[in-house]
Amino acid sequence: MGAVILGTGSCLPGRVLTNHDLEKIVDTSDEWILSRTGISTRRISGKDEETFKLASTAARRAMEAADVTADEIDLIIVATMSSHMLMPSCACFVQNELGAKNAFAYDLNAACSGFLFALDSGDKYLRVERDKKILVIGTETLSSRINWQDRNTCILFGDGAGAVIMEYQDDPRGVVGSNLFSDGSLWNLLYMHTAPSLNPELEQSDHPGTHILMEGREVFKYAVKAMEGAIHDLLDRQKIEISSIDLMIPHQANIRILKKLVSRIGIDQEKVFINVQKYGNTSAASIPIALDEANREGRLTRDNLLLICSFGGGFTWGASLLRW
Ligand code: COA
Repeated sequence: MGAVILGTGSCLPGRVLTNHDLEKIVDTSDEWILSRTGISTRRISGKDEETFKLASTAARRAMEAADVTADEIDLIIVATMSSHMLMPSCACFVQNELGAKNAFAYDLNAACSGFLFALDSGDKYLRVERDKKILVIGTETLSSRINWQDRNTCILFGDGAGAVIMEYQDDPRGVVGSNLFSDGSLWNLLYMHTAPSLNPELEQSDHPGTHILMEGREVFKYAVKAMEGAIHDLLDRQKIEISSIDLMIPHQANIRILKKLVSRIGIDQEKVFINVQKYGNTSAASIPIALDEANREGRLTRDNLLLICSFGGGFTWGASLLRW
């Protein structure tokens, strides 16, 4: 019994950036990117495709699928780290775009684990406020936060948004459980500054800019180990065997991380949904985009057991189980 997903939606910007396009920007090759990451293309947002606009389109698609109107939404949680403003929140812009005048709205930043954390917050909210409907969104335009001269990072990320509508139902379906973690001591392996402060007391010389900075090898190592641990713990606690999982939707960071994780937890490869080749790492948007694609492709049927897991800057990571 818990928060059930009533509908899913997603939105990808129109512009496709291929590995061959990247060969013209930095010293790299299609072969290098494909073999190290599994990524072929990613989407890049343009004018009128701000973070909140992608989010609002994804949300409208989820609302249509769920047959829910803007007036019926009580809460909007947006997981993002790339809104066009720090204040107001991206969620307030989404609320305004949708005309969801009865909803309160806030952002949540847990980097690439944002959607997983937002889903858990939404589930906990609905267990108390049982007659409400909520919108949970993951949305990013990380193309605006990339150093396009840094070949270590610019090949990895892409833009997009995904959304779900949820409500509590007195039903064995819904969120079964979550297992979430953070370790702030490892912040400097994957991070992004805000713009330098204009407060003279906080003046920062040698400001490295607002780009994503990453120690790729270290992130890789921690990501596999952390997600593996979170999944094992969660399954043990719920007394569920990995063979009972019908579909796994991991955060789409990198094909090599996913392959290693899949082999360590022993899930059948065919049960793992992967679309990283098309969109790259869309951070907080990756799971809800993949969820929407899996759903629309008919990969999920009623009562299926769905496992999702993520890892991101912070570090933040975790896993959740949902009965569809
Ligand atoms: N094209 C060509 N060569 C590149 C390159 C690129 N885009 N990026 C790095 N290289 C080079 C490096 O400069 C290095 O060259 P050197 O040996 O001459 O010094 C070589 O390739 C190996 O670099 P390294 O960083 O050790 O590669 P790697 O095998 O670790 O792969 C990543 C790099 C980023 C693909 C890998 O570390 C990774 O996937 N990490 C996890 C990243 C991630 O998913 N982050 C988000 C988590 S939410």
